[in-house]
Amino acid sequence: MSKRMLITGGAGFIGINAARFFADRGWEVVLLDNLSRRGVIHNLERLNKENPGRFQFVKADVRYDQDILDKEVAAADAVLHLAAQVAVTTSVTNPRLDFEINALGTLNTLEALRKAPKPPVFIYTSTNKVYGEMEEANIEEAETRFHLRDLPNGVSERQQLDFHSPYGCSKGAADTYVRDYGRIYNLPTVVFRQSCIYGPHQYGIEDQGWLAWFIISLLREKPITIYGTGKQVRDVLYIDDLLGLYAQAIENIDRARGHAFNIGGGMANSLSLLEFFTHLKGAHGHNVDPAFGDERPGDQKVFVSDNTKVKNILGWEPTTSFGKGIDSLHGWVDESLPLIKALY
Ligand SMILES: NC(=O)c1ccc[n+]([C@@H]2O[C@H](COP(=O)([O-])OP(=O)(O)OC[C@H]3O[C@@H](n4cnc5c(N)ncnc54)[C@H](O)[C@@H]3O)[C@@H](O)[C@H]2O)c1
Repeated sequence: MSKRMLITGGAGFIGINAARFFADRGWEVVLLDNLSRRGVIHNLERLNKENPGRFQFVKADVRYDQDILDKEVAAADAVLHLAAQVAVTTSVTNPRLDFEINALGTLNTLEALRKAPKPPVFIYTSTNKVYGEMEEANIEEAETRFHLRDLPNGVSERQQLDFHSPYGCSKGAADTYVRDYGRIYNLPTVVFRQSCIYGPHQYGIEDQGWLAWFIISLLREKPITIYGTGKQVRDVLYIDDLLGLYAQAIENIDRARGHAFNIGGGMANSLSLLEFFTHLKGAHGHNVDPAFGDERPGDQKVFVSDNTKVKNILGWEPTTSFGKGIDSLHGWVDESLPLIKALY
């Protein structure tokens, strides 16, 4: 009998890719989403059109629908808990909404896990924002990027937690609850503190999904604004690499459970905005002429994930090169442009 996976936030970028990935590997997949994020309804429609009858969809809200969560979590062998309010800016203007979705919604899902007769594996997608701005880090400014002088391999899980912005607080609270539910109720939970993830089906906005946002803006011939110098650095991880990691964690849950892991493209896949624009010019012929605005509060100057812990425990590391990953994202934006133009 096939195993059953519940994906909360399943119509979103990571969710829709995960649905395909796990269904292709024999899982029965149930997507739960309230469809609040703009664009995600199209992800769902396309998935169903390409795969009639293959996926179950449950329209529900992780804030309110406890009975549905109880039923769906209890019926699953694994839960990917992705449902979230994902934009820092929205969290600043509406911190209660952000808290209710990210913190309370996660608590509700964990309660369903605690009550389940045979609790499934529970994967929580946290964020590198739980480390805040890392103000004490020694940051050096070079010609095209900032560097973390004392952390040549990036930021490990030993970095002090420092929740900054309501989004940082709500995701950090959820991250903490997931780890503690694993400990105090002996549940098979894992936390992944993800850096920037990118790939097809990502309706990026200025504040989240920045690689997709810039490519979408360029193909729509819209102006580009950079907040700060453009030297801020992120490590970026292609979606398929992330999904491979989820699969490895589920298969090796005895080793993964109880841990929080920093996950990203690592130093080899780190780049600044300025370097990204140079890449887009070389690989795709885009001439980017950005306007510059003020740096945004809580924006880390540099974040690169040190993936050593996950490599040691699960043997995972990213394999998709940045150039290949961007080709794929660029191709999806290009092919989806009429729909994207109607949405944005
Ligand atoms: N994409 C990234 O770069 C990244 C990085 C770090 C962490 N994460 C985390 O990964 C998860 C998925 O991110 P994503 O990029 O796929 O985002 P996304 O916005 O594309 O997907 C989130 C989904 O959750 C749904 N949702 C929102 N509120 C809900 C609610 N109350 N009830 C049910 N569904 C609800 C949305 O409609 C959307 O489909 C999030 O938890 C996010 O914080 C993502």
